[in-house]
Amino acid sequence: GHVLVLAGGLSYEREVSLRSGRRVCEVLKADGVDVETRDTDAALVPAVLADPPDVVFVTLHGGSGEDGAIRSVLELLKLPYVGAAPDACRIAYDKPTAKTVVRSVGVRTPEAVVLPKETFHDLGATAVLGRIVERLGLPLFVKPSRGGSALGGSIVRKAEELPAAMVGCFAYGDTALVEKYVEGVEVAVSVVDLGKGPVALPAVEIVANEGVYDYSARYTAGHTEFFAPARLRPEVADACARMAVTAHTALGLRDISRTDIIVDAAGEPHFLEVNVAPGMTETSLFPMAAAAADEDLGALCRGLLQAALL
Ligand code: DAL
Ligand code: MG
Repeated sequence: GHVLVLAGGLSYEREVSLRSGRRVCEVLKADGVDVETRDTDAALVPAVLADPPDVVFVTLHGGSGEDGAIRSVLELLKLPYVGAAPDACRIAYDKPTAKTVVRSVGVRTPEAVVLPKETFHDLGATAVLGRIVERLGLPLFVKPSRGGSALGGSIVRKAEELPAAMVGCFAYGDTALVEKYVEGVEVAVSVVDLGKGPVALPAVEIVANEGVYDYSARYTAGHTEFFAPARLRPEVADACARMAVTAHTALGLRDISRTDIIVDAAGEPHFLEVNVAPGMTETSLFPMAAAAADEDLGALCRGLLQAALL
């Protein structure tokens, strides 16, 4: 038997996913695992049926990789895989839905307005946007309700910047999530469950050199400074870890997730979103968290594969 790493796909995060897939393959190979990687295209299902893997590691970001679609296919093929089941992915991947779920279990998340493209156009942009600024104040953060890697996301500091932010957002998705922007320290908390319950890895702190942790800040070496573990007071770090585990559990996730958080000036964490297929590239947060925990990435990935078989 062998392990199949799925990477690529057709989402906007295809390139990132190919890098994540390559990294997971490398560390698993170095750990002595028989592993192959495949793109998700029409050739996938016939290939998998001809030579079924024992277990699948999904490193597809965005779109079908995180919205549950590919996992539904894996369920149909009766193949075990690392990560959350289709229903949980569907809920977690939709940021407004995820926010509602975590808020219902007491997790703080920025106030927001959800605006589908049609509403925006039908009702007249100016009137609608004025009401949003009135309701939420400034600054705001605008992002597609489904997506990743900050694509289509932008900070709005002045009301007149909002229309352009909405247009930029609608280039990447049909629904916008307009959130109150919380100033503070951005951290990411990875969660792994190797069969004994979800455990938070050390928080990783993100300091983007240009001030915004956008796509190029994410995937260009040197564009962002990371601190792993994050420079947080112990009780704040604990609160972030608890938030990530609570989100993981409340959303019904499995094996692996990464929760992105802003810690405000008072040290209060605010939930931004959860990722069911965290990036695994050289500049990604999950591998940094593993390193900060003195965990070998290959051993951790192998542990996740074993947990998926339980
Ligand atoms: N969406 C990217 C891959 C991440 O969350 O790491
Ligand atoms: Mg994300």
